[in-house]
Amino acid sequence: MHRFFPTDGGRGGSVRNVGVYREQVVPRMVEWMCGAAGMDRWRALAVDGLSGRVVEVGFGSGLNLPHYPSDVDVVLAVEPAATARRLAERRIRESSVRVEHVGLDGQHIPLDDASCDAALFTFTLCTVPDPARALREVRRVLRPGGAVHFLEHGLSPDPGVAKWQRRIEPVQRRLADGCHLTRDSPALVERAGFVMRRSEQRYVRGPKPWSWFTIGVAVKPADGTP
Ligand SMILES: C[S@@+](CC[C@H](N)C(=O)[O-])C[C@H]1O[C@@H](n2cnc3c(N)ncnc32)[C@H](O)[C@@H]1O
Repeated sequence: MHRFFPTDGGRGGSVRNVGVYREQVVPRMVEWMCGAAGMDRWRALAVDGLSGRVVEVGFGSGLNLPHYPSDVDVVLAVEPAATARRLAERRIRESSVRVEHVGLDGQHIPLDDASCDAALFTFTLCTVPDPARALREVRRVLRPGGAVHFLEHGLSPDPGVAKWQRRIEPVQRRLADGCHLTRDSPALVERAGFVMRRSEQRYVRGPKPWSWFTIGVAVKPADGTP
């Protein structure tokens, strides 16, 4: 089983602390960091063009909800953290878009094949233990021609920054619930069998190891096998 945190060799107190940290602290930290006002512009770009039944993997506290276009009929949310789901409740109440929590793990999405029109990942491919598997699942539940939209931070093309990302990553993973700094999201998306339609990469404001962003849209080929 994948573990985000080292075990304590049986000392229950530390395990409890780790549980409290993951369940209570991390979702609030994500809400605070990913909810920064500067992110709104990026979120609005990421959801642009979504319509119909949209599966959002790593729904978190629902920070994308205010940006969803009115063409979206329902957001099928996949999110393991109970605190994040609780933090999302107010946004869901206030949203004109219907939200159904359908699952806890993007690597095993309890939806039928080809049952969704589109999918969304924002700052989640960095955290899901096996992103290739999550992308395969999304490809399975998307209809042929359906699009996956993604907004992620990741591996910088600058060797100096990438070196620091590799150095910092072990600590980052422990502190930020498994969040990686060196994942190459566009490459992962293409390797999962999607065809890239749009993709843009650049540094945003902030320390460079965390600030290399990719925003993109890729589609499941119309003749694609599930
Ligand atoms: C950095 S947060 C981003 C949350 C949200 N997407 C946003 O943009 O604010 C990463 C999210 O991925 C979720 N996550 C972690 N493992 C996951 C998994 N196996 N399947 C689905 N979501 C997962 C976490 O619980 C967390 O909500």
